[in-house]
Amino acid sequence: MNNLVNRLLKLFFFLGTMISLHSYAQNPVKWQAQWIKTGLKEDSLTKPAQYFRKEFKADSKLKSARLYVTCHGLYEGHLNGNRIGKAYLTPGWTDYNKRLQYQEYDVTSLLKSGNNTLDIVVGDGWYRGNFGFSGKRDFYGTELALLCQLELTYSNGRRELISSDASWKSGDGRIRSAEINSGETIDARVTTGNWTTVKTANYGYDNLIPTESEPITKHETFKPVKIITTPKGEKVIDFGQNLVGWVTMKAKGAAGTTVTIRHAEVLDKDGNFYTENLRGAKATATYILKGEGEESFEPNFTYFGFRYIAIDGFPGELTPENFTAVALYSDMKPTGYFECSNPMLNQLQHNIQWGQKGNFLDVPTDCPQRDERLGWTGDAQVFFKTAAFNFNVQKFFSKWMKDLALEQRADGAVTHVVPDVLNGAGGSAGWADAATIIPWNMYLVFGDKSVLQQQYPSMKAWVDYMTHNSKDDLWNSGDHFGDWLSYRSPDDDGSDAITSKYEIAQCFYAQSTQILVNTAKLLGKAADASQYEQLLQRIKTAYNNEYVTKSGRLMSNTQTAYVLALQFDMLPEAIRPNAVKYLVDNISAYRNHLTTGFLGTPYLCHVLTRFGYNDLAYTLLLQDTYPSWLYPVKMGATTIWERWDGIRPDGSFQTSRMNSFNHYAYGAIGDWMYRTIAGIDNDPENPGYKKIIIKPHPGGNLTYCKASLDTQYGTIKVHWEIRNDKFSMDVTVPENTTATVYVPDVNGKNYSMRQVKSGNHHFD
Ligand code: BGC
Repeated sequence: MNNLVNRLLKLFFFLGTMISLHSYAQNPVKWQAQWIKTGLKEDSLTKPAQYFRKEFKADSKLKSARLYVTCHGLYEGHLNGNRIGKAYLTPGWTDYNKRLQYQEYDVTSLLKSGNNTLDIVVGDGWYRGNFGFSGKRDFYGTELALLCQLELTYSNGRRELISSDASWKSGDGRIRSAEINSGETIDARVTTGNWTTVKTANYGYDNLIPTESEPITKHETFKPVKIITTPKGEKVIDFGQNLVGWVTMKAKGAAGTTVTIRHAEVLDKDGNFYTENLRGAKATATYILKGEGEESFEPNFTYFGFRYIAIDGFPGELTPENFTAVALYSDMKPTGYFECSNPMLNQLQHNIQWGQKGNFLDVPTDCPQRDERLGWTGDAQVFFKTAAFNFNVQKFFSKWMKDLALEQRADGAVTHVVPDVLNGAGGSAGWADAATIIPWNMYLVFGDKSVLQQQYPSMKAWVDYMTHNSKDDLWNSGDHFGDWLSYRSPDDDGSDAITSKYEIAQCFYAQSTQILVNTAKLLGKAADASQYEQLLQRIKTAYNNEYVTKSGRLMSNTQTAYVLALQFDMLPEAIRPNAVKYLVDNISAYRNHLTTGFLGTPYLCHVLTRFGYNDLAYTLLLQDTYPSWLYPVKMGATTIWERWDGIRPDGSFQTSRMNSFNHYAYGAIGDWMYRTIAGIDNDPENPGYKKIIIKPHPGGNLTYCKASLDTQYGTIKVHWEIRNDKFSMDVTVPENTTATVYVPDVNGKNYSMRQVKSGNHHFD
């Protein structure tokens, strides 16, 4: 009997798998709709948003109504005046010509029997508006277009389709222009109308895919904390938090009153509104009043990175009630919590999380405010592990990794940015390695091999690219960003020690190859595993011959050079202690300051902890003079800065050209905070937190740390405390998992080890 049940269960499981694979593999929408374009002659300078309308009748006894939509541009839909769905900036950002997402909505509750009106407005967005730093437009095409299909099912089983086709009308409306970098202009005096018949187009359906994005939705809101008149006389509102999204405004005034809202992350040292670091991004919302009572405004097809707004033309007094800042970001579930007894570190954690919120808008971007906002691979790579502590980023990154593979060049080079809008430029060490490092870390964190299966050809192509461009196993060619934005002394005449780009490249070549070997083994690709294992040995030998002295001194005497060599196990074991010593000497030569850039920073404290210098890791973490993590915190930062010294101690700016105040890369220290201070880690042999390692490293005079992580099994919690010279700790281990718990003495030096099962545990 049991056997029969088992067999039946297996059969159901098999069928279930088949069905879910089937619906995944097959396009569930049978597209009958036609692509439509506006019939209006377009103002080629202002390019107003394009409005599409369909009026139709629905019978009573409607059972369900499902709407499928996508566009060339960005769309927002309304059914009988009600907004469809909660997502913004749809259909999201992919390389549209290769794959274009459509979204599905259940609109049953918005329909009524009798007459219905379906309105969809389409704006420029990433499709043809301006974004990036080239000043270019029309990245994917020159004309906006809409494709949508509404499927009605009645209770008697009858089905009816309302599809975009020649019967739709196109018109004009209140969004007079909208672009990512420029902002948006809304004229409330313009009522939707001026209807003409649409044109149909034949763009086909081959590139259409069901949405994979974590939708961008509204999150936290902020009320003004201060209303300021600056020395220059600008009317400025401070929302107290550097965030990404927009401001909703209520106003009452005469028809034609024009209010402009400009956005800025910081004030300059005199307290004036500062927008130079936005470079070519106008980042302005313009609202023109209709003049009929209280009106409310918010943009649709743009977003801003800001803490301050400067307002011109507002009718009447500026009052806090009229302005609300709204944060928009991909709807990732928060998973991590970190708190400790040092308020500066708590602010750092806050800044890291807000750096993530502000730059995870469908694509992981470098920055959200200036004329750039691109999916830089290096930034995402260095920040991934921290990101995966703070939020569930599985869906977000599995979509983006597919995009990365799609953009990868035929020669295997991974493009600098994904989606690629830099004409295929790519192949930079530490950037392109996003192709291997992110999938591998996804596997460790989420315990799901499928991402490795999905990415394997891309990972392999990237390693092969490096091999192809190497001579005698040394990768000594190509353009590299190197240890981007590492410390340079103020009087640097070019002689400052910076890390050789090829020395870095060789380390990442090894690391990507190591990951490929691990992946090949895991996926049962024995031949690949052994081939790349041999390659890995040769890469390391070539590295040691070229860059390392017998005693373990590196050609580049920099923190990053030592950190990468040690983190990626480049050196023979015997000389590692010497190399660690040189690293420590280097840190002390800079009076216990870090000097690392994007590539060295994520591993710096990990290497120090691993090789017995945990106290020094804490010293670096708690350093609050430039360059350090807490220097920006001391300067009042509410997000992570692009540069260690974006604002100098005297309040002046480091530069105006490349100075973002919301750039998450240096927030990569978050991973060390969770794994080392709180001590929440994952056994790599049993990924996805199936086997948990709890090993806190108290230090830095911290008296407590409280952290948690939501995993697929449940929430891991760690709360340690030092009181009266005694260390105690409470740990929660989720169901169906086990944990190895290391309990340190009060100095964090000697550990006792315990194996525990799920449940709550107390240790003294
Ligand atoms: C971006 C970086 C990026 C870099 C490449 C910059 O413009 O803002 O974050 O990684 O270019 O070096």
